[in-house]
This record gives sequence, C-alpha cells and structure tokens, in this order.
Amino acid sequence: MYLVDIGFCGIESLDEIHAIESLCNPTPWDKGWIERDLSLENGLVCYLGARRKKRLVGFGACKRQKKRLYIMNLAVHPDYRRKGIASQLLLALCEIGLTWELKSVALDVRESNGSAQTLYRGFGFRVIGRTRGYYSDGEDSYVMAACLPLVVD
Ligand SMILES: CC(C)(COP(=O)(O)OP(=O)(O)OC[C@H]1O[C@@H](n2cnc3c(N)ncnc32)[C@H](O)[C@@H]1OP(=O)(O)O)[C@@H](O)C(=O)NCCC(=O)NCCS
Repeated sequence: MYLVDIGFCGIESLDEIHAIESLCNPTPWDKGWIERDLSLENGLVCYLGARRKKRLVGFGACKRQKKRLYIMNLAVHPDYRRKGIASQLLLALCEIGLTWELKSVALDVRESNGSAQTLYRGFGFRVIGRTRGYYSDGEDSYVMAACLPLVVD
C-alpha cells in the first residue's frame, strides 16, 4: 500500500489530470471539459488528486446529483496500481458527500471493467441498473450505488 497525499485540485493541475486521464481511459475526457470543471467555482464539482512525492498519481472527480453523490471519474496511473490509491481516493470523495449531507453515492462503470467493479464491490457498491450505449464508443455502463458512509466488505 502506498499512502498518498490527497487534496483538492484546481486549474494548476489540469495538465497532470489530463495526462493521467489519457493513459487510463479508452475514451478520455476532452482537456477542455476538465478545464471547464476545474474552473467552476460553484462548489458543485470537485476534483481530488493523489500525490506521491508531489507527483500526481491518480485523481477522482465527483458532483452532487440531486440527493446523491455521483462519482464522475476515478483513475490511477498504470505504474501505481494495486497499491490502494483508488481506494483512498474513493473514500475521500465519499467524505465530500458526507460533508454535503448526502446519503448515497452512485457511479457508472464500463460493463467490461471488471477490475473497477471489484474495487467498488469491496466498498459495498451494488449494481442497480444498466445504461445502454452510455460511453461514446457505444459500450453499456453498469450503474453502481452504495449508502454513505461506505462500509468496507
Ligand atoms: C480501477 C482503478 C481506478 C483501480 O485503481 P487502484 O489504485 O489500482 O485500486 P486499489 O489498489 O485501490 O484496489 C483496491 C481493490 O480493488 C480491486 N482491484 C483493483 N484493480 C484490480 C484489478 N486489476 N483486478 C482485480 N481486482 C482489482 C482489488 O480488490 C483491490 O484490492 P487488492 O489489490 O488488495 O486485491 C485503476 O485500475 C484505473 O485507473 N483503471 C483505469 C480507469 C478506470 O477504469 N477507472 C474506473 C472508472 S469507473
């Protein structure tokens, strides 16, 4: 396990976040979308970064979706996986949900993304639905959700 420093990201982290997103996601978010999110100062969208020796090694993003927390993204640099970094980010994102007094958390995950599904199941997430063609390449998503605070299985 690598302990990482987790903190809020602002626009100064744009290039690092985009670099990790491009390495991790088969249909990466456009840099302009990330820039727009990081520039929002309405408190509705939050990006957290995980740093090891000051280097960004992972990030997560969340927003309020009505009465629940929605995890928009979670990604860890391929060289730093299986060291508990996504788990630390997930817990920190859910702490934000708790400070927003939200009672549940949801996310979409690729149907083919068994590793991420395993990660989420370990924190009590269960599949509650499926969205056909959710991703830009046409793949379906599973909608997974859990109650807050998370309970580790
Ligand atoms: C999914 C992802 C975020 C996991 O990051 P990570 O830092 O490696 O995850 P963790 O080390 O916290 O893993 C926690 C647990 O999740 C499960 N897990 C994570 N990666 C796994 C894999 N490749 N295969 C099987 N189980 C896996 C394991 O149970 C793991 O615990 P263990 O290592 O003690 O067995 C990372 O692989 C990634 O960035 N993938 C590409 C982007 C992505 O798919 N994001 C999810 C979008 S919904």
